[in-house]
Amino acid sequence: MVTPAKDAASPDATLKSLFAQIPTAVTIVTVGTGGERYGATVGSVGALSLDPPLLMFAMKEDSTLLRRLDVGSPIGFNLLAARQHDIARRFSTPGIDRFGLTHWCEENDLPRIDDALVWIAARVRDWVRLGDHMLVTAEVKHAEIEAGAPLVYWRREFRSLAEYEMVGSDSR
Ligand SMILES: Cc1cc2nc3c(=O)[nH]c(=O)nc-3n(C[C@H](O)[C@H](O)[C@H](O)COP(=O)(O)O)c2cc1C
Repeated sequence: MVTPAKDAASPDATLKSLFAQIPTAVTIVTVGTGGERYGATVGSVGALSLDPPLLMFAMKEDSTLLRRLDVGSPIGFNLLAARQHDIARRFSTPGIDRFGLTHWCEENDLPRIDDALVWIAARVRDWVRLGDHMLVTAEVKHAEIEAGAPLVYWRREFRSLAEYEMVGSDSR
């Protein structure tokens, strides 16, 4: 068994290294229209419920994105395609014009990133504080899916799922 190096002086570093073992899809979560638009890279988006159709994600409690959310407000989920790793880096960098160098359009009163693998327009349902993050839930209203391979973040690197061999299927 391999364990992340224990570092008593920096338990955060040990935990971050543990959490980096969990592969995640990479989504740009977007809110707002016009000059109010905002977006951030999020790896914690997950499927939560079928009825009603709910997604969830966790955001650190001091995040700018969180401050732009209201119950019932539109929220967009742009699941990135493998070749869009530059966009993932850009939308996780503080203090830059994230939309400036990005091809995007306005749809469903939300910024939509061009050529994302999946576009979901949703509405914020609620949130709950858990630890140092807020767990946000959102109800899916509209979705579009393109062909292609998703961008995956694993062990602090961006990867393409297309490079991985399928080892089994579960069609349920
Ligand atoms: C691949 C990747 C996944 C990330 N996932 C999350 C996440 O799930 N929650 C979070 O709070 N920050 C996450 N981040 C960091 C945010 O993108 C970054 O802190 C960003 O500036 C959001 O903060 P803001 O809302 O203040 O702009 C991730 C960054 C990367 C590169």
